[in-house]
Amino acid sequence: MPPVFETAPDAKAIPITFASKANWEAVKKALSPESRQFAEASGFAAKPGKCLILPAADGTIAQVIFGIEDDGAKSRDPFRAGALPGLLPAGTYRFANAPHDARLAALAFALGSYRFGRYRKVDHPEVRLVPPEGVDAAELTRMAEAAYLARDLINTPSNDMGPMELETAARDLAQRFGAKFSCIEGHDLKQNFPLIHAVGMASTRPPRLIDFSWGDPAHPKVTLVGKGVCFDTGGLDLKPSSGMLIMKKDMGGAANVLALAQMVMDAKLKIRLRVLVPAVENAVAGNAFRPLDIFKSRKGITVEIGNTDAEGRLILADALALADEEKPELLIDLGTLTGAARTALGPDLPPFYTNDETLAADVARLAKTEHDPLWRMPLWPAYDSWLDSKVANITNAPSGAFAGSIVCALFLQRFVESAKSWLHVDIYGWTPSAKPGRPEGGECQAARAIYKLLSERYA
Ligand code: BES
Ligand code: MN
Ligand code: ZN
Repeated sequence: MPPVFETAPDAKAIPITFASKANWEAVKKALSPESRQFAEASGFAAKPGKCLILPAADGTIAQVIFGIEDDGAKSRDPFRAGALPGLLPAGTYRFANAPHDARLAALAFALGSYRFGRYRKVDHPEVRLVPPEGVDAAELTRMAEAAYLARDLINTPSNDMGPMELETAARDLAQRFGAKFSCIEGHDLKQNFPLIHAVGMASTRPPRLIDFSWGDPAHPKVTLVGKGVCFDTGGLDLKPSSGMLIMKKDMGGAANVLALAQMVMDAKLKIRLRVLVPAVENAVAGNAFRPLDIFKSRKGITVEIGNTDAEGRLILADALALADEEKPELLIDLGTLTGAARTALGPDLPPFYTNDETLAADVARLAKTEHDPLWRMPLWPAYDSWLDSKVANITNAPSGAFAGSIVCALFLQRFVESAKSWLHVDIYGWTPSAKPGRPEGGECQAARAIYKLLSERYA
């Protein structure tokens, strides 16, 4: 990632003034007569997202005016400033006044500078920002770098991001921070991780269980589990092409868990971190697992396959069971698990589930303050019996089409027993159309809010 933040103290920076309906007249009044004339001639009215670049007498850029919502506006985008890197010419800039939240605006500026350049040259002017006063630039850089990592991993197409490449990404990260890394692969999974093996075996690219641990073993144990389905065809319950199109993003849970782990390790939080990523490709072949197959999971629960397209919960089940065995203080899993989550809340607002009321309140609060939106949904006990199977302990996909995201969360809950507290987030991991600070494509979701939670608790 290019260093977005300019921390050299003597850097000459072009001022950006945030203007809204409320202060536009005052801002205009403070301009030179020429600039005021230019603003008027351009028809600039400080509407949210509009940008005015004002020249100096010598032809250089004197300053920038950028429109944002009024303080009292019904809906205000704290990431507005994330559009600036796409609007400004190369140069170093600074905020001349405070937008609603200068920290989030600066973060958005960094997040909005992301471009995916692996397969073609992106000529993107180098736009830098002097961090606003009182804002911890190192912390913002840490968050932006993590988001870039998650986006790069998700945006990389499946032919270059299979289970092996995901393992390499995890191993690189583990090595960078001196974490202890191990990985179980292919047929070696059959005995102890039957569900990961069952889902992954039809692909010519063998499945994996990636496992690394970092930090002082005496510190509180926090374990992260991420769904790493490198491509989801649906298996024999094949998805239609429209549903399959963006399934390279089905390792979004893994990508976000790695992003979260990177922030935790970089900030040296006082936890014993463990990261588990079951990495598979849900493929179609003669040896694929089938509807109504039954497997005995790692935990001993027998699972009937109601639908091979409900594969994410299967691989997470075995990984959660393993994580649960060492009774972590906090067990967190992230995954792109259901279309139903998106139907309920849309792509930008992932549902989260927990029975820990304190944790729920903290997550909801930090999701808001970090502008990493999350919304609590219930582990509704009355629906738990929907998981009943007539021939096994449970099914992975009950026949009814109701409450799909809740049912998935209830399925996963069956595999968590000893962890002190458990948080599950059903993310989308993808921005369907660009918004300020959120370019189209792979997206970092839930990782920043959870990182903040962990740094509040274990800094
Ligand atoms: N990876 C999908 C979920 C998904 C689909 C997320 C589209 C985001 C967008 C998951 O593996 C899946 O296919 N889930 C099924 C479950 C169903 C078969 C019970 C779904 O949501 O349709
Ligand atoms: Mn699926
Ligand atoms: Zn999937």
